[in-house]
Amino acid sequence: MPKIELRNVTKVFDDDFTAVRDVSLVVKDREYATLLGPSGCGKTTLLRTIAGLVKPTSGDILIDGKSVVGVPPEDRNIGYLFQNYALFPHMNVRENVGYGPIVRGESKARTVRITDEMLRFVNLLEWARFMPSELSGGMQQRVALVRSLAAGCCKILFLDEPMSSLDPKIGVKLRYEIQKTARNLGLTVLHVTHDQEDAMSISDKVIVMRMGSVVQVGGPREIYNNPASPYVAHFIGESNFIKTVPVGDSSVAFDGSVITLGENVGGDNIVISIRPERILFEKRLENTLEGVVEDKNFLGPTTRFIVKIGSVKVSVSTAKHPEIKVGDKVYVYLPPSVLRVFRGVSDLDGELRILG
Ligand SMILES: Nc1ncnc2c1ncn2[C@@H]1O[C@H](COP(=O)(O)OP(=O)(O)OP(=O)(O)O)[C@@H](O)[C@H]1O
Ligand SMILES: [Mg+2]
Repeated sequence: MPKIELRNVTKVFDDDFTAVRDVSLVVKDREYATLLGPSGCGKTTLLRTIAGLVKPTSGDILIDGKSVVGVPPEDRNIGYLFQNYALFPHMNVRENVGYGPIVRGESKARTVRITDEMLRFVNLLEWARFMPSELSGGMQQRVALVRSLAAGCCKILFLDEPMSSLDPKIGVKLRYEIQKTARNLGLTVLHVTHDQEDAMSISDKVIVMRMGSVVQVGGPREIYNNPASPYVAHFIGESNFIKTVPVGDSSVAFDGSVITLGENVGGDNIVISIRPERILFEKRLENTLEGVVEDKNFLGPTTRFIVKIGSVKVSVSTAKHPEIKVGDKVYVYLPPSVLRVFRGVSDLDGELRILG
């Protein structure tokens, strides 16, 4: 049975602004799901709606197979780490974590047990007597995380941008800790982020949003390798997009050459896309184009080249070929199996717009 199920959930604010549009999705028991999308696309609103802090305009929300629309937030058993979390500054770490259980009416002894267990999970038991101001940002974030867990003492955890206020290196470490903690506790997690790397690296399921709608749901690899639209291909990772016209069942024209695709073209307004790291500097019998290197940037693990092919510029990312210089003539090979085909894209620029 799905842990969380949404059926056609819509939220309209002030009668005229649709922040969440007809969202249907399932999060399974013990699944780690991320809600991924740019700022303002409705992630927090969707989370708050499931948690019961925002009333849906229409649609149904089920937890453990039962509708919870009308059930107050405290009875939904959801731990919630808010986007702008704050620890109580006048309480020490133990008091912060124990606040929820005490308010819920747990005994003193049980509260101590819950608090100890939670703090041990995030390696902060020896910091129990410290005040929040004495902790680093990363430590405070971990306290906030287990405080939200202890408050609900529940099997569902909502995290709204839990790494946003942290130094990126600490954020990366914390994301794996959170994932491990959730797995050890057998939690079902819905984690909001606008960082595609967060979503890719820790999720069982990625839910991609755009302007209030869910536009694709899938595992990280599926989303990355088979994006459902140019928007998803663009938002998650980097992609080159090329407008083309079909010249055969499974071939298109590009800069006077014929490009063979791994699938049938079909339809109008064809756009093909390819990830920069999938393009090879090689001359083969097919799908090889000639271009000139316009720009080159060393990024550490890879180097990014901008190659002009006819009137189109493509980005190529590779750790090989340090010898290639700006101004060089190069051959680029586009392997058919990694070319994505999008049909019916009449407004590519509109499709690629990240913000509403
Ligand atoms: N209470 C409200 N009343 C009116 N409009 C709202 C309300 N809450 C959110 N909105 C609007 O709904 C849209 C979605 O907001 P939301 O906070 O859900 O986005 P988000 O994806 O979480 O963005 P961010 O990544 O910036 O946190 C925004 O345009 C926002 O202004
Ligand atoms: Mg938000």
